[in-house]
Amino acid sequence: MMNTANTIEQLKVTWRCPSNIAIVKYWGKHGKQLPCNPSVSLTLNNSYTEVDLSVSPKTGNEDVELSYFFEGERNDAFGKRVAKYLADNIEHFSFLKDHAVEIQSSNSFPHSAGIASSASAFGAIALAMFDVEYQFKGQDIDDAFYQKASNLARLGSGSASRSLFPQFAAWGEINGLEGSSDLYATPVKNVHPIFHNMCDSILIVDDQPKAVSSSVGHGLMKDHPYADARFIQAKKRCSELLEVLESGDMDKFITICESEALTLHAMMMTSKDYYLLVKPNTIEVIDKIFKYREKTGVPVYFTLDAGPNIHVLYPKKYQSDVEDFIKNDLQESCISTIFDHEGQGPMKMNK
Ligand code: DP6
Repeated sequence: MMNTANTIEQLKVTWRCPSNIAIVKYWGKHGKQLPCNPSVSLTLNNSYTEVDLSVSPKTGNEDVELSYFFEGERNDAFGKRVAKYLADNIEHFSFLKDHAVEIQSSNSFPHSAGIASSASAFGAIALAMFDVEYQFKGQDIDDAFYQKASNLARLGSGSASRSLFPQFAAWGEINGLEGSSDLYATPVKNVHPIFHNMCDSILIVDDQPKAVSSSVGHGLMKDHPYADARFIQAKKRCSELLEVLESGDMDKFITICESEALTLHAMMMTSKDYYLLVKPNTIEVIDKIFKYREKTGVPVYFTLDAGPNIHVLYPKKYQSDVEDFIKNDLQESCISTIFDHEGQGPMKMNK
């Protein structure tokens, strides 16, 4: 047990955690941040959150003493969410009893860019918090550290659980994936070389804040008429996707990936309080991708987050062809493009 009587004057850690894009989507949750179906994602590289977390002795008597800054400025809106997260999970962070925390967070990507910022933010926060907890307990970072930190990241934002692992990661219990669990994400290790070095170019067609948040969307799955069928489908697709990742069947990968994107949005359109997040330019870009793929045979395909922006995915081998296609045919329908690719997971920074 850690001796919390030993308060320390100052401890600072810095973690960088990437975002991820789901191939099979998590949409619907129950209990304490548990998914209604498993999901599988690709970890990104250039789109990340960096968190500097400093710990010092408490000055007041609140359970959680947190100052939260985003890009150098105090951010009380997200700070409140983080403070609640820390309070709800205080049993995992024994040092909070005697210590205050300051978080300085920044993103490598613009706000509202269609990149899951809560995934990278909660990934980085969970890693930094748990690193401090490990240091207080005199433990070294090992493989179990990442699994436990993934559980803590999940409690902040479900999709964050997957950002802690390189390449492909699965969250939720999946037939055929040993060790998989609803509590944390598991790295997917058997990946055919055809799926190594995947590129993800994110086309921003709309940079306004979303009309309906993901939390509301998850909630609408509760009494959704198609919920049961959707959860069964996603579970089956996760198992299929793992087989496809191993065998290298690109066509089947594309079918699962694109159908998942459209199914996610179909769920939004068919919920009791229906809504539409795609924009005319989203459809225009998707249509151009279908036509380009049909004409050239280049395996370029799309997925969508819970928003209008399009993630264009393709193997690195086709990078120059697809980047020409994006520049010549797609960028006229977009505000901007973020060129990203498969990443190696989080990193502790020496600052
Ligand atoms: C459409 O992880 O943002 O991106 O757990 O409420 O924070 P919370 O939800 P969040 O939902 C992500 C939904 C998604 C699909 C996915 O990433 O799997």
